Amino acid sequence: MIYKVLLASCILLILNVGFVYAEQGDKVAGKEVFERRCIQCHGENGEGNGRVADKVYPPPRNFTWGTFKYKTSPGDQVPRDEDLLRTINEGFGEASMPAWRDLMTEKEKRDVIAYEKTFSDIFETEKPPEEIDYGKEVSFSEQSVIKGKELYEREGCPECHGEGGKGDGIKKLKDIWGTREWPRNLTKPWTYNGGNKRKNIFARITIGIPGTPMPSFADKKSQKYLNEEERWHIVNYVISLADETKRVKKEDEDKPLKAKYINGELPLDVHAPEWKGAPFKALKLYPQDQANEKYFKPTNDGITVRALFNDKDIIFLLEWDDRTKSVPGDTDAEKMSEGEVFEDAIAVQFPMAILPRIPIQEQLPSIRHGDKEFGVNVWYWNSGTTSVPQLTNVIYSNGIEDKSIEPGSKVNLEGKGEYKGGIWKVVLKKDIKTSNSKNNFQFETDRLIPISFANWDGSNGGKGRKHTATQWDWLILKKE
Ligand code: HEC
Ligand code: HEC
Repeated sequence: MIYKVLLASCILLILNVGFVYAEQGDKVAGKEVFERRCIQCHGENGEGNGRVADKVYPPPRNFTWGTFKYKTSPGDQVPRDEDLLRTINEGFGEASMPAWRDLMTEKEKRDVIAYEKTFSDIFETEKPPEEIDYGKEVSFSEQSVIKGKELYEREGCPECHGEGGKGDGIKKLKDIWGTREWPRNLTKPWTYNGGNKRKNIFARITIGIPGTPMPSFADKKSQKYLNEEERWHIVNYVISLADETKRVKKEDEDKPLKAKYINGELPLDVHAPEWKGAPFKALKLYPQDQANEKYFKPTNDGITVRALFNDKDIIFLLEWDDRTKSVPGDTDAEKMSEGEVFEDAIAVQFPMAILPRIPIQEQLPSIRHGDKEFGVNVWYWNSGTTSVPQLTNVIYSNGIEDKSIEPGSKVNLEGKGEYKGGIWKVVLKKDIKTSNSKNNFQFETDRLIPISFANWDGSNGGKGRKHTATQWDWLILKKE
């Protein structure tokens, strides 16, 4: 009997040692991985000062501080290896840290983790981390969402994340590294840095995000203490906020935006019932910085577009999330702005004309205001200031240096925008065939029409060449 127990524990011991061995990475091999994959951002000594560090925003983490944001160990305990592995696998939606899941072997990942932990002595001086207690999970239900909403409001989440979770609270925030912090837009779970699974969100609410203003809601010494059940209700509420119409879908990439035919007048109204049944497409906005200023971090990652047309006109509904209503002169805007407040603005770009050339991709003008061979029309709208009304104009250009501008009113471009609850909705309407200018794009039905969009966030330094933009996409007017 004793012999058997001994044998069993020997086997267990061997298995255990084997297990531990397999889990522990090799620091020396890890250094080599780090120098190949991570050094350009995180720097030779892990100080976050690599070769391209000043091109990414927020800046790469300085590992010597020993502060980690997205972890599953309680309070100020060091992160678990699982957390560091998750970061390496997933990267960050809201920062320039790449996802390495398929780019590194499991051994390379373990090794680089072992090496990363040598940059700060906290991994040696602090006790090994535990995992937070998830308590008894409360599954998703309407009732739980209602409870979660009450707690969300009672606990002051809206101060930073806004009533509807758009991250539009009027509170200017910074992290301990001195970087501007924008509270996460909770309606876009694909932008969460710490993962958007139920347990990930529970962990964030429990621990908070160390180094940032995002507080812990499980600190018994703080007034913010919530028990596990309450935290799960909030998780369910946060999940209920997701807005799928703003998600850029891979399967839609090759489908053109369909403009819907309307028998009657087109409404210059963002709330018109006609928009309800209109097809929509969400497009990704990429940061542009042709002014060559310091790379900036856009506060918005996409735009959702709808279009209607009749025999005379075409109208677009452009919708995008924006944490700040940037109208120069507005006191809230002044309070939230990075530097001077500029107008929020949006632009739609078409070619000046469609040439009968095949394949159609070969007649795309340069995305940056067209080129000598292929010119473009840009329909522009901005939010105005507290003393100047919203404005529209049309820009005709054959490249950045070669352009002319007409006020919208002169070429039948009408626009109207509304900002509410962290969302801009703007309608832009123009005639399909314009007779008074040969440079205006003449729309045709049943044809693929190149279209692209640009967006300026005036509270985040957005002005002139400093903005975000989509790539060329396609629009089609179908009269069915
Ligand atoms: C292109 C730049 C870039 C590269 C390459 C890069 N990182 Fe990062 N990394 C970042 C940025 C930026 C952050 C900080 C994000 C933030 O603070 O929100 C970061 C943060 C981290 C964090 C902190 C996570 C936390 O919970 O706070 C870890 C760990 C990390 N990186 C590991 C790595 C490893 C390992 C590699 C190489 C395999 C690597 N990174 C390569 C840009 C990079
Ligand atoms: C004082 C401001 C503040 C308050 C109050 C606050 N947050 Fe946050 N929250 C932030 C900031 C800032 C971030 C982004 C930090 C980062 O990742 O760098 C954030 C991020 C998050 C994230 C995203 C985490 C990720 O993985 O990217 C979630 C979810 C979240 N908060 C939920 C909540 C909930 C729920 C509450 C209330 C119970 C709350 N927050 C209260 C400031 C706040």
